[in-house]
Amino acid sequence: MKTIENISRMSTFVKMMKKEGKSIGLVPTMGYLHEGHLSLVKAAKKHTDVVVMSIFINPLQFAPHEDLEKYPRDLKHDEEMARTAGVDVVFYPSLKDMYPEGYATYVTVEKLTDNLCGESRTGHFRGVTTVVIKLFNIVKPDVAYFGQKDMQQALTVKKMASDLNMGIEVKMMPVVREKDGLAMSSRNMYLNDAERKDAAVLHQSLKNAETLIKNGERDAGKVMKAVEEMIRSKQSARIEYVKLVDARELKDVKMITGEIALSVAVFFGKTRLIDNTTITVR
Ligand code: PAJ
Repeated sequence: MKTIENISRMSTFVKMMKKEGKSIGLVPTMGYLHEGHLSLVKAAKKHTDVVVMSIFINPLQFAPHEDLEKYPRDLKHDEEMARTAGVDVVFYPSLKDMYPEGYATYVTVEKLTDNLCGESRTGHFRGVTTVVIKLFNIVKPDVAYFGQKDMQQALTVKKMASDLNMGIEVKMMPVVREKDGLAMSSRNMYLNDAERKDAAVLHQSLKNAETLIKNGERDAGKVMKAVEEMIRSKQSARIEYVKLVDARELKDVKMITGEIALSVAVFFGKTRLIDNTTITVR
């Protein structure tokens, strides 16, 4: 496995691979890797010749009060996990290389970013799409892999790639979970024991909602209320949102029909976690 820390060296490597006719798969991450990240690598290895994983904690997508400073970092461990998973190149650019002094260009995807996390995390998706388009331009992947854990992010990046005719296929892969159902996340390490136990309620409440819908409930308000009640029963939980939206445009729905997504953002103590499930009702 190669580790490349420099944008121009990454470009040279990409040119070489393209010359050899190799397809490139990109897995963008902020590091502190877990099985969720590695599931994207597995998918990339299946479909592309060379797998590049970027590790870059992107300050642009953090608001001033958020956890940029304390975001977990462990490059040595990440490199070990990436190597074992079969990553070919870890791309680890520096902040200065990505955003040199005077940097002034940003990419915004409208509409899809209005609801859910876009509502509370002002500027977050602008930060994500800006760094991702830079990574796309540097690595020039044929396919890029994102997790459904961050569904709004994956759909937003997909929309950007399509609207800007980038010729990059953006794939969204299923959520990887812990044994008790909690979606894996680098941020889970912030949780204390009590919060960690409480956090399992997220998946339980989504599963419960799936059952309600399967049993015929079509009133979005009632389903959201059931989810909220379950989550509120946990002492350390503070709900930011529980929403039922259509799975394509992410607009609120009142009646449950077609392809919908149930999406939640909840604080456990100071740690904000998100989860979602998509449901198709015929
Ligand atoms: P990060 O949180 O490190 O996640 C990197 C990728 O892993 C994202 O596509 C995310 O959706 C996926 N992922 C995280 N947890 C997952 C899980 N439990 N199951 C499946 N996939 C999971 O998301 C980011 O970084 C950044 O916003 C980034 C796209 C790198 C831009 O800075």
